[in-house]
Amino acid sequence: MRARLVAGNWKMHGSRAANASLLDGIVSAADTVECAVCVPFPYLEQVSARLKGTSLAWGAQDLSAHAQGAYTGEVSAAMLAEFGCRYVLVGHSERRQHHAETDALVAAKFVAAQAAGLVPVLCVGETLAERDAGQTEAVVGRQLQVVVDAAGAASLARAVLAYEPVWAIGTGRTATPEQAQVVHAFLRGRLEPELGQALRILYGGSMKAANAASLLAMPDVDGGLVGGAALVAEEFTAIAAAAARATTH
Ligand code: PGA
Repeated sequence: MRARLVAGNWKMHGSRAANASLLDGIVSAADTVECAVCVPFPYLEQVSARLKGTSLAWGAQDLSAHAQGAYTGEVSAAMLAEFGCRYVLVGHSERRQHHAETDALVAAKFVAAQAAGLVPVLCVGETLAERDAGQTEAVVGRQLQVVVDAAGAASLARAVLAYEPVWAIGTGRTATPEQAQVVHAFLRGRLEPELGQALRILYGGSMKAANAASLLAMPDVDGGLVGGAALVAEEFTAIAAAAARATTH
């Protein structure tokens, strides 16, 4: 049985004032289903102070592959753990695209996150050109395999996977529930049955209150990684409510 998870990815949004009211508006969403927010580094202090003792978990959006050292501007997994982070996104397509993160770097970050006791949320997904060329499964399969090779398949028992088609992120264009289901089932099927059955696979890409229930109704969609809609309290809360209502897988 896989517990649903709704994770917000705030990206580079927020301010102390905006965060305070957003957190007030969403904190109770986590009472009925597992929820988390992945926030910009500078707000971890504020977010951890507000959410400590609540059921809403928090995390970061990136981390360094290194444990410590002369890496100006980077943030280590141990630092995130000190701020009470449970989750950290790894390999988000915006980092793969805009920060030239390779599969190998993503795998190293995944390993670094787990070494500090964090739960990496490994993001995989194809571009529109790759989908049109019929390469979706080859691309997401490779992105997953590189991590399995680096960290070992068993490491996925302490991780979350997120399928985020790049063409659906921030575009308002959502994968249909059927499109998501095909890829989620493919990813799960790449793993040993016991491991695959236990692994939570979130869908990300323009998930919102209006489409969450139909995506979450799919047998292999275990939750959502939510960007834009996670910045609107009513949207995030409604997505969480849809996840709470969805039948358990
Ligand atoms: P979106 O972003 O919901 O705004 O499409 C999702 C993500 O990038 O995690």
